Amino acid sequence: MTENLDECYEIIVKLSKEGGQLIHERIWSKKIVEFKSCEVDLVTETDQQVEKLLISNLKAKFPSHRFIGEESTAAGVKCELTDDPTWIIDPVDGTMNFVHGYPNVCVSVALWVNKVAQIGIIYNPILDLFFSARQGQGAFLNGKPIHVSHENELSKSLIGYEFGTSRDTEKMKVVMGNMNILTPVVHGVRSTGSCAQNMAMVALGGTNANFEFGIHAWDIAAGCLIVTEAGGVVIDPAGGPFDVLSRRYLCACSQDIADQLVKIIKQYYPERD
Ligand code: IPD
Repeated sequence: MTENLDECYEIIVKLSKEGGQLIHERIWSKKIVEFKSCEVDLVTETDQQVEKLLISNLKAKFPSHRFIGEESTAAGVKCELTDDPTWIIDPVDGTMNFVHGYPNVCVSVALWVNKVAQIGIIYNPILDLFFSARQGQGAFLNGKPIHVSHENELSKSLIGYEFGTSRDTEKMKVVMGNMNILTPVVHGVRSTGSCAQNMAMVALGGTNANFEFGIHAWDIAAGCLIVTEAGGVVIDPAGGPFDVLSRRYLCACSQDIADQLVKIIKQYYPERD
């Protein structure tokens, strides 16, 4: 690999902190809110500005790199993952939280090279949680190594769960159905409202597993590396290999828990990114 990953890492740490600062300054101020695919899929001027800040600075430094960004895709840019170094960016993961002033809001950025995640950052600037990972080098929270929990039994697990930003009836049937399946058999279910933060919680050992249908590459591109570098597993919710463009993922602290979940949950297959 010809990329200077140390330099890429140094720059993205600095830029995510700058983006995080904008989020921090604005979370309890008035925002301009617009709808995307439906009335619960929101975007604010801060989502757009943070994405612009990240992409313009990365482009200036690495002109040959490619980008997949949530707001650029919403504006019509094609979402395409090639072997070229590609930054996959969710400037504000948890936009609904940001709009309401609920402090589970993260900048999520990953660098993928040859379709493999090399760098992953999930930064919640409100709660000051800076999760980072590099391929083969472990996962960290605010610079300190983190590890997934050692739990192997689903019945003793705390599960991260989301309702998503779609009102599609078929999808909601599956989401509510899985809630009904899980709540009687696990210790508890928790919803942060940020897919990236849900994945970071598995990496940290705060929850034991988490899965979602209908998310996009930018929600999970950093989290998948942080979870695996913390010792966890990331797979397709039906049990096959993880595919970052499939809009489906399941992550867990152990293969055992992942297998137990795969056996009982209902499946949903959204259109790919
Ligand atoms: C959303 C959040 C939410 C998840 C949705 C995502 P966004 O991302 O991660 O937790 O349930 O599926 O779209 O729109 O806030 O970047």
